[in-house]
Amino acid sequence: MRHSTIAIPLLTTTLATPISTVSDTPLPVLLWHGLGDSYASDGINGIVALIQGTNPGTFVYPIRLEEDPSADSRASFFGNATDQIAKVCADIAKHPILSSAPALDALGFSQGGIFLRGYAQRCAKPPLRSLVTFGTPHNGISEFQNCADTDWFCKGWTGALKTNTWSANVQSHVIPAQYYRDIDPATGNPSDGYIESSNLLADLNNERSIKNKTYAKNLAELEKFVMYEFADDVTVIPKASEWFAEYNETNMQVTPLKKRPLYKEDWIGLKALDEKDGLVFKTVPGGHMQLEDKMLREAFKTYFGPARKNKSLAALVSKGENLEL
Ligand SMILES: *[C@@H]1O[C@H](CO)[C@@H](O)[C@H](O)[C@H]1NC(C)=O
Ligand SMILES: *[C@@H]1O[C@H](CO)[C@@H](O)[C@H](O)[C@H]1NC(C)=O
Ligand SMILES: *[C@@H]1O[C@H](CO)[C@@H](O)[C@H](O)[C@H]1NC(C)=O
Ligand SMILES: *[C@@H]1O[C@H](CO)[C@@H](O)[C@H](O)[C@H]1NC(C)=O
Repeated sequence: MRHSTIAIPLLTTTLATPISTVSDTPLPVLLWHGLGDSYASDGINGIVALIQGTNPGTFVYPIRLEEDPSADSRASFFGNATDQIAKVCADIAKHPILSSAPALDALGFSQGGIFLRGYAQRCAKPPLRSLVTFGTPHNGISEFQNCADTDWFCKGWTGALKTNTWSANVQSHVIPAQYYRDIDPATGNPSDGYIESSNLLADLNNERSIKNKTYAKNLAELEKFVMYEFADDVTVIPKASEWFAEYNETNMQVTPLKKRPLYKEDWIGLKALDEKDGLVFKTVPGGHMQLEDKMLREAFKTYFGPARKNKSLAALVSKGENLEL
């Protein structure tokens, strides 16, 4: 059985309960892990427990590309991000609990946050209510981190990237290369290589001349998009990327999101979202992905949980009287 390891409290409660109380049921949560992690790691299991401890009865789906945890971890380094997002969209669309929920909440760790934004912009079936990202390089990484001497995994992929980042081969196989974003020092704009060949980020951030309007429309339909940045992050370079800011390596200045065309011309719906109070910027202490239970619980309490927290979502839920969960 595919999902046999996951408790399914939502299914049992909703089947037996009249629809009037369905709005007390927490929305399901999608959880997308970061680079090198897997959907079944101790860390991810701990997060699942913490979500369920904060909002009892929450169905949490740790996203996986492979059922075998080590293959799933490998898929966080290697693969074509377009295909990976499409596969997850399809998995969610045929999942009995997720697909019949009125909306989902989502929690993305580091690169997992970019992928979840991919779900929100490209698929959104069902739509997301809250998208919460921790340490996610939404504006890409512009430098590959220095690897520890013994970290052969890190060395392997940074080595592969330094030479041929924009080749079709690297762009279709190495995940971090697909959200690498460099600036051409001569023009101060993203490099031609990035604009032409970035397999994921240039598309997702609508940086090409032809914009996909669906992306902006879908993202603006979120209720909250919450971006947590780590104050002392040195893994995501530059860390300002975690708030969609742009870092100019020539003069070392950070241009905040709201001063960028991405926002001002609303390429992906962030401005629309901001205008309805849906954009939330948070800073938490510590280095990359130094997650504290207390801050996580606070986030889960505020942004996840029962649908009735939002009246219009609650209305959606009660309209779904004939939903067969
Ligand atoms: C825009 O994105 C949607 C969702 O992924 C896709 O179905 C559509 O084909 C895209 N449109 C263009 C013009 O690329
Ligand atoms: C990644 O996969 C998509 C969809 O299958 C394909 O259109 C695209 O060309 C691939 N990317 C690269 C860089 O090969
Ligand atoms: C980055 O800084 C350089 C040097 O000050 C400047 O010429 C360039 O226009 C800046 N780029 C952007 C995008 O602001
Ligand atoms: C509730 O959700 C709807 C639909 O996503 C959104 O338009 C609205 O702004 C939200 N309300 C609050 C109070 O956040």
